[in-house]
Amino acid sequence: MGKMWAGRFKSALDKQADDFNSSFHFDNRMYKQDISGSVMHAKMLGDKKIITEEEKSEIIKGLSGILSDIESGALPLESDAEDIHMFIEEELTKRIGDPGKRLHTARSRNDQVALDIRMYMANECEEIGGLILKLITAITDKAKENVNTIMPGYTHLQRAQPITFAHHILTYAFMLKRDFERIADAEKRMLSQCPIGSCALAGTTYDTDRYFEAEHLGFTDISLNSIDGVSDRDFCLELLSAFSILMMHLSRFSEEIILWSSWEFKFIELDDSYTTGSSIMPQKKNPDMAELVRGKTGRVYGDLMALLTTLKGLPLAYNKDMQEDKEPVFDALDTLHQCIPVFAAMVGTMTVLPQNMRAAASKGFLNATDCADYLTKKGMPFRDAYKISGKLVYLCTEKNCTLEDLSLTELKKLSPLFAPDVYEAIRLDTCVCQRKSYGGPAVEQTAMQIAAMERFIAAHTK
Ligand code: ARG
Repeated sequence: MGKMWAGRFKSALDKQADDFNSSFHFDNRMYKQDISGSVMHAKMLGDKKIITEEEKSEIIKGLSGILSDIESGALPLESDAEDIHMFIEEELTKRIGDPGKRLHTARSRNDQVALDIRMYMANECEEIGGLILKLITAITDKAKENVNTIMPGYTHLQRAQPITFAHHILTYAFMLKRDFERIADAEKRMLSQCPIGSCALAGTTYDTDRYFEAEHLGFTDISLNSIDGVSDRDFCLELLSAFSILMMHLSRFSEEIILWSSWEFKFIELDDSYTTGSSIMPQKKNPDMAELVRGKTGRVYGDLMALLTTLKGLPLAYNKDMQEDKEPVFDALDTLHQCIPVFAAMVGTMTVLPQNMRAAASKGFLNATDCADYLTKKGMPFRDAYKISGKLVYLCTEKNCTLEDLSLTELKKLSPLFAPDVYEAIRLDTCVCQRKSYGGPAVEQTAMQIAAMERFIAAHTK
């Protein structure tokens, strides 16, 4: 089929240039949104008497036929059309003739594509949100099984203070909750800016009803400046940044899973169904899924950087550069669709090894703060108590023993405040169960966090 702008041109577009110009092979995934947008546009044109009632119903019938043919496979998404918008318009005209040529009245591909990508992404936000909820559920369930599993808590990757495995992994559930909320928030803002009716950039002379189209396409409001309507892609950037932050969280979790499943830590064992072997080393069980999620994080950051860079020098309004918005957005979405469910299954199936965690927590003087707190509670200023506890740690490293191995006589040499109850105070389990401050690792505090997470999951599960 000749180009729709053929009137202005003497010769056809060069084949190579045509292929280069075309976005059909990547934007055809928006066919559903393109058709819903066109159906609503035809309704508006009909209601406002810009086209006749018969033309309106022929267009709508034609479009729904195209939709069902695409879905059944009768109309394959293969074409040398420039993009999905032209493909559907050309197909419609092929099917219904002249009324098809009236669909594009009071519209431009500039506002059409800005509409389609918003609708496509809004739908994806819901899907991704659902995947995040499942992952949060897997983490919360694992946490519930491990409220008493003591492990070392780290700072600088040095053993710091005792915590529980539940307390540790719930951290990721809270991060993911914020990711969920960030995406929902970006979606809300995106759906408050319906661009359709902005036309090429300067609106239209027809008496259109932009609010009708917006409302019936699921938007809460319209974009109030027609140039902004077709030029804005910040909603793509907002989502790509939310996705990048989400991937950063998964990457940190991946890194820990990789460490924990090494022989050096051996805090967990990943299920066979989520690990791989080596082609040469028979003993290997590799955490490939976690490594791939960590690796793919760079790819999603790349998508964000690519689009930021594409947009940074563009004058208003639409520029063809903006066709480059879709591939990074789709790539990031596809990556999230792959990563989140695999990650959830990997977490859900992993075996926690409590003895190893406990053994690690009993070495490294994780109770040194508690030893200082003991003296403080007996009246000593914290800074002095801190110093004495430090001296005791030094003594232990000399003697190659733990704080609880020191005799009362040895302890009393440094402070007369030490009494037999010190041993109970610095016992690992005491150290954890006494950390009752809000948000801490004590069982009742962990239960509070789990309950909060379960309320969040229930509130967002439809
Ligand atoms: N395929 C184009 C895109 O994705 C659609 C808009 C084309 N508009 C134009 N004036 N050439 O951006």
